[in-house]
Amino acid sequence: MLINSQESQLMPFQYPWAWEEFKNLCKNHWLPQEISMASDIGQWKTPGLLTVDEKHLIRKILAFFANTDVLVGDNIVMSIYAHVTNPECRQYLCGQAFQESIHSWSYSHIVESLSMDQNEVFGEFKRVGVIKEKHDYQSQFMQGILNAGFSTKTHEGRELFLRNLCAYYLGMEGMQFYSAFVLLLNFKRRNLMSGTAEQLEYIVRDESLHCRFGTKLINQYVIENPECWTGRVKELVRENIHHVVELEDAFVNDCLPNGEVVGLNVAQFQTYIRYIADRRLESVGLEPLYGVEETPFPWMNEIMDIPKEKNFFETRVTEY
Ligand SMILES: [Fe+2]
Ligand SMILES: [Fe+2]
Repeated sequence: MLINSQESQLMPFQYPWAWEEFKNLCKNHWLPQEISMASDIGQWKTPGLLTVDEKHLIRKILAFFANTDVLVGDNIVMSIYAHVTNPECRQYLCGQAFQESIHSWSYSHIVESLSMDQNEVFGEFKRVGVIKEKHDYQSQFMQGILNAGFSTKTHEGRELFLRNLCAYYLGMEGMQFYSAFVLLLNFKRRNLMSGTAEQLEYIVRDESLHCRFGTKLINQYVIENPECWTGRVKELVRENIHHVVELEDAFVNDCLPNGEVVGLNVAQFQTYIRYIADRRLESVGLEPLYGVEETPFPWMNEIMDIPKEKNFFETRVTEY
């Protein structure tokens, strides 16, 4: 049983896949300070090397990331870990929560290295704008779980918990990072901000694995609690994903006020987020919403999905 069990004995495993995912997660261990930011600092300070639009874009993305991993970590510890009682899944969740802290450290390391205004970047989620909208929308999926009366012993509670799992693993970790990843990693493709991009490469790989674990968790949860996977709940999950797509459109518009940055434009991102949304829906057996079969950024798939990476992580990571 994933939930409502008193059993804390780890072996033999009930869910060997969860233990395998835990071991995969541990292989991608890294620390932000190990990555040199020297060339980024030099490029950031060189007048005219990065355009006003490009600096705006980098600040916006960091402002989004800055609080997001804190929110994801809170949800793991206070919502998911509190109610998923299976011990091997809990080992995974401990590892994931740690990685979310490393991600927050990574963003703070970039912000410090580039001498950005810490309040401006880390406080943006409190101010009016799309980053606040994204934060507020996502936060609501945690609130019901944190209420004193919440219990997975009730049908209503189990349903709410399933919606939280979908909102965080599919809608948040599975979707909301990816446009920002593409925008930042694109700098490295032009030999710019390579330290920032390298941090992001490690984070992308972590998030890709988090999403894979979450998808398995959701599918197992549905097997064990099929009465929660009603037509109404499926529709609510699809509405959730659709709203995330709308927020991502707004976020990309915010990042690219002139509609494009070298080599990338808003229309590509609209296609990309719909492509990802459809894959997330399919991963839990739901009908896709948009019918987008091809990604405009196939190079991102190489980072996210290939089980053995030959060149991308040439310095540290070789296999998952
Ligand atoms: Fe993260
Ligand atoms: Fe994550």
